[in-house]
Amino acid sequence: MAAGEGRALAPEEIVRLDDGPDGVAVVLLDQRRLPLERVELRCTSAAEVAEAIRTLAVRGAPAIGIAAAYGMALAAGRGEDLVAARAVLAASRPTAVNLFWALAELDAWQGDPAERARAIHCEEVERCRRMAEHALELFAPGVRVLTHCNAGGLATGGVGTAVGAIIRAWEEGLVEHVYADETRPLNQGARLTAWELEQAGVPFHVIADSAAALAMARGEVDLVVTGADRIAANGDTANKIGTYGLAVLARHHGIPLVIVAPTSTVDLATPDGSGIPIEERDGAELTARFPARNPAFDVTPAALIAAIVTERGIHRAPFLDLSPAAPRQGGSPAGALS
Ligand code: MRU
Repeated sequence: MAAGEGRALAPEEIVRLDDGPDGVAVVLLDQRRLPLERVELRCTSAAEVAEAIRTLAVRGAPAIGIAAAYGMALAAGRGEDLVAARAVLAASRPTAVNLFWALAELDAWQGDPAERARAIHCEEVERCRRMAEHALELFAPGVRVLTHCNAGGLATGGVGTAVGAIIRAWEEGLVEHVYADETRPLNQGARLTAWELEQAGVPFHVIADSAAALAMARGEVDLVVTGADRIAANGDTANKIGTYGLAVLARHHGIPLVIVAPTSTVDLATPDGSGIPIEERDGAELTARFPARNPAFDVTPAALIAAIVTERGIHRAPFLDLSPAAPRQGGSPAGALS
């Protein structure tokens, strides 16, 4: 099937628990093949789901959590050893806290794991919708936005965080143009964000990661919006490698950086970014010829973040209101960031 049908993917087209004739399976749209091909991957064990997460067939923090929840439901449905299933899923990737959050949700659930896993998927999509509505007030009319990696529906099981907010703002006529960083080394921006923006009809250009500074210096970027893989209690935020550099550039040029991420990405048990585990991926993703280091994420200090949008609202430094128990505070935003 050729990729690209001009409409947003339904949540179940991205990841689902499937009760087929051959038994229960987790079915994933294989993101490694996009945008060239739209191919589904059928996982029939928790180990296969873990391998799909490890190899980025499914990626993006909320989508990883959803896939892991479905992986536990699959393991239960097929009578696997649930302790071993949980362990293999938990070992698949270290940085996105949504993985561990979703596994803990399943641990605490007394009923049918499939029911809770499907509910987690629905809840994450609903959180994205709410974030996109909250984020609208941060987009001034005519804004030119830069985003990094892929934080669209593919990364969340539907709708998206940063890209969901950008598309929603574009629907309201607020966004003039989007720059999508290519996002080396695996090009989630040039492959996935570009594909999603194209599907939505949003005007955009892919730029090399190293072109962001020039775009900012030329006055071509008004706002930087990204997702997150883990937000520490103080607001320090881990996201795809290169986000920290963008944040420094944005601060230098007086451009606000906004993070859009659900509370399932907030890790209150980690006080600050120094405690966030950073995934080191195979150097062969960079070069097969030479030794290479390949950290997949970096941490942007809270001081460089203008606002964090969760489904609960807009949070501003010092981000004391990220706790689900805390009353919303930090002041309501006075319209678009400038
Ligand atoms: O390595 P990836 O592709 O899983 O990294 C994903 C990101 O860094 C995303 O920006 C992040 O998960 C936010 S997704 C809504």
